[in-house]
Amino acid sequence: MSNGVQAQPAVLVIFGAAGDLTWRKLMPALFDLFLDGRLGEQFAVLGVDKHPMTHDEYVTHLAEGVTRFCRPGRWDEDRWKAFARHLLDYVEADFDDPKAFQELAGRLNELDGRWDGRPTRVFYLATAPSLVEMVTRQLGRAGLAGDVDRARLVVEKPFGHDLASARALNAMLTGVFAEHQIYRIDHYLGKETVQNILAFRFANALFEPIWDRRYIDHVQITVSEQVGVEHRGGYYEHAGALRDMVQNHLLQVLCLIAMEPIISFDADEIRTKKVDVLRAIRPIAKGEVPRLAVRGQYAGGWLQGEKAVAYRQEDGVAADSSTETFAALKLFVDNWRWQDVPFYLRTGKRLPAKVSEVFIQFRPVPHQAFPAAAVQDWRPNLLMIRIQPDEGIVLRFQAKHPGPQMHLSPVDMRFDYQKAFKAAAPEAYETLLLDVMRGDATLFMRADQVEAAWSVVMPVLDVWGDSAPADFPNYRAGDWGPEAAQVLIASDGRAWLAPSLDDDGQGA
Ligand code: BG6
Repeated sequence: MSNGVQAQPAVLVIFGAAGDLTWRKLMPALFDLFLDGRLGEQFAVLGVDKHPMTHDEYVTHLAEGVTRFCRPGRWDEDRWKAFARHLLDYVEADFDDPKAFQELAGRLNELDGRWDGRPTRVFYLATAPSLVEMVTRQLGRAGLAGDVDRARLVVEKPFGHDLASARALNAMLTGVFAEHQIYRIDHYLGKETVQNILAFRFANALFEPIWDRRYIDHVQITVSEQVGVEHRGGYYEHAGALRDMVQNHLLQVLCLIAMEPIISFDADEIRTKKVDVLRAIRPIAKGEVPRLAVRGQYAGGWLQGEKAVAYRQEDGVAADSSTETFAALKLFVDNWRWQDVPFYLRTGKRLPAKVSEVFIQFRPVPHQAFPAAAVQDWRPNLLMIRIQPDEGIVLRFQAKHPGPQMHLSPVDMRFDYQKAFKAAAPEAYETLLLDVMRGDATLFMRADQVEAAWSVVMPVLDVWGDSAPADFPNYRAGDWGPEAAQVLIASDGRAWLAPSLDDDGQGA
């Protein structure tokens, strides 16, 4: 994890340099890192893609993305020009052309001679998933993977489509690069607030002693989005909410909440503790899927005063699609700490708000000593970890209402990132790119993590894959998912907590 440090000399080779990820995320993040003085003079980007473009066209195209997506208020023409000097070249090449990779190797060797020291070589696969194998193998054949100390491969999700394909992908990747050279991105792990879960839990003595089944009633993780599938219908049709969000982002957040204390801040120590959680998740028996998992798909509706079309009318989506745009799960972590504490997870598109939040619901006090009239408003303690937006943490506890009588009501104690640190948090991709260049793998997914996460969701995917949903679409754009999601939690006598710091935390 980046700590006010500079990257070592590095060359970043981006495959898919003309694509959306480079335009929207990678270049704006690099520009912000540059502005913060994190990249140093010995830093270069080589863009590779098959799209025909001159170098000037490439730079102009990237500048457009950076003006739109760099951190607010940071665009500056002169600083851009200084940054653009590091954009060495745009190489137009077919990824199946071995000659292009030999030329690339020649180009990189030439750079070695120019700088003091041997720069780190980062090969970033910002390509369609179908090209990952081809580019990786070409890199291997051109001799670009062999230098295990400085060659690094960055792979974006999806890491496979299911457990079997994830295993095959890992076997292919590790056949060319060593595991420690491979950086699998789950951008949620780059978010400051997600990283802060570790700090909150293990840098404070206060919560850890009560962070278990004796004091915690249940945990809720909500990641909701207002957007639909946007221009990604083609991809999403084959993914769905469980693959797109739960298998990676939500399970990673769950791991950070549920993991055992770390012994050291070592990448493998942290990742191993997370894998332990994934392996402890109670396997969902196929017969239990209807009770423990809910899927939904949005119909048309209204969101923030705008009409939203149904998922089945989005571009690239089949008119009778069975793909879920909403998923909710109830999971258990079978170990001493968490036995029988439910973890409720939900995520979906076209929900009323864009918010990612974790609720830790504590148990009621063991004995209620106050008179009935005092506790009409009484609620058990609640800890809300707000990942985005309005990043922060809120602890809800009981206080005495001012006045002659004993009357208790819940009040909130708030920590707000912006107010506390008076600085904008870096974007996830800034953190992740800097970490790759510095060789810190803490925030990246190891092969065993990816496979363990697939194992958790496989029974649900299998059952859903075998039986087309009869009721799709089953929620309106702008609703909190299908009614079955309410039933999932209500049948345990609980309710989803409203993902908002400003309301009373009840009943979404
Ligand atoms: C991506 C998913 O991994 O995460 C998208 O593929 C989703 O479908 C996105 O919209 C959400 O990320 P964030 O950072 O906006 O919460």
